Amino acid sequence: MTTIAELVSERYGEQVNYGQGIAAEGTIKQILTRGSQRHFTDKPVLDDLLKTLLACAQSAPTKSDLQQYSIIVVRDAEKLEALGAMNSGMDWPTKAPVFMAFCADMRRIQKLAPIRGHDHQNNNLDTFMNGVIDASLAMLSFMYAAEGTGLGCCPISQIRNQMDRACEIMELPAGVFPIAGFAVGWPEYETPRVSMRLPQDVVVHYDRYDDDKLEERAEEYSARRHETSPIGPGKQRHTDKYGVLEFCPWTENVVRQLSLPERPGFAAFLKKHGYDLV
Ligand SMILES: Cc1cc2nc3c(=O)[nH]c(=O)nc-3n(C[C@H](O)[C@H](O)[C@H](O)COP(=O)(O)O)c2cc1C
Repeated sequence: MTTIAELVSERYGEQVNYGQGIAAEGTIKQILTRGSQRHFTDKPVLDDLLKTLLACAQSAPTKSDLQQYSIIVVRDAEKLEALGAMNSGMDWPTKAPVFMAFCADMRRIQKLAPIRGHDHQNNNLDTFMNGVIDASLAMLSFMYAAEGTGLGCCPISQIRNQMDRACEIMELPAGVFPIAGFAVGWPEYETPRVSMRLPQDVVVHYDRYDDDKLEERAEEYSARRHETSPIGPGKQRHTDKYGVLEFCPWTENVVRQLSLPERPGFAAFLKKHGYDLV
C-alpha cells in the first residue's frame, strides 16, 4: 500500500514521520501528487465538461460573497494567436485545447451600484486584493476539479507581461485584469513531475514567525532538489548577468530572479485601468 507518508516524503524530498497507516487515495492523493502540465494531446475538452469545471471554479469561497472575478475562455483563433504572439515563441499555452484568463473584477459591482442607486466607495487596495484572492481561489478550484478528471493544467503569468495588450485582445474594461492565464488539456505524459517543496518548518510557523534556521534549511532543500531535479542552464535566471552554474541552488535562482524588477509598470497599468489602489 502506498501511504500518505510516502507521498508527503516525495513532495518534500525527505522522510516525514506522519501520514503512515493512511492509504494514499482520493483528494489528498490527487493534491499531493499533482504537478503543472505543459504538454497536451489534441483531444478536445468537451463543452459539457468545461462548463462543469467552470461551475467548480465558481464553487470556490469568495470574499463576502462579492464574487469579484471573471473568467475569460478564449476561443477565437485570432485572439489566441495574438495572445500567443505576445510571448515571443512561448505560445504553447494558447495552443492548448483550452486557454482561459482568470481575472480580478471590480467593475461588476461598480456597474451595479448606480443601477441600485448607491455609491461605490471601495476602489481601493482592499478591493484589489479581494478580487485577486477570489480569482486565485476560483483558478485553484477549477484546477483541482480538472486534475481530478485526468486533465492537466498550468497557470500562466506570462499573460501579464504586456497587460495593456492582453486587456485589449480580451476586451477587458477598466476594473478587470488577468491575474493569470490558464492552459488546460489532456496530458501527453500521464504523470506530471512532483515538484519538491520547501520543508514544512520553513513555511509553517506555530504561534510566532521564526526564520532563525532559514539559511540552513533552504540550502539543504536546494541540495535535495538538485539531486532529483537540477536547475539546468536553460532554467537558470539572468545568466547574461550572473553566468551559468553547474550546481545552481534553488536559493540562488530565486534571488537571481528577483534581483531585477519584474513587471515594474504594473501599478501604473492598474491606475490607468481603473484601480485607485488607495
Ligand atoms: C500565478 C502563477 C503563474 C504561473 N505562470 C507560469 C507561466 O507563465 N509559465 C509556466 O510554465 N508556468 C507557470 N506557472 C506554474 C509554476 O511554474 C508552477 O506551479 C511551479 O513551478 C511549481 O510546479 P508545480 O505546479 O508542477 O508543482 C505559474 C503558476 C502560478 C501559481
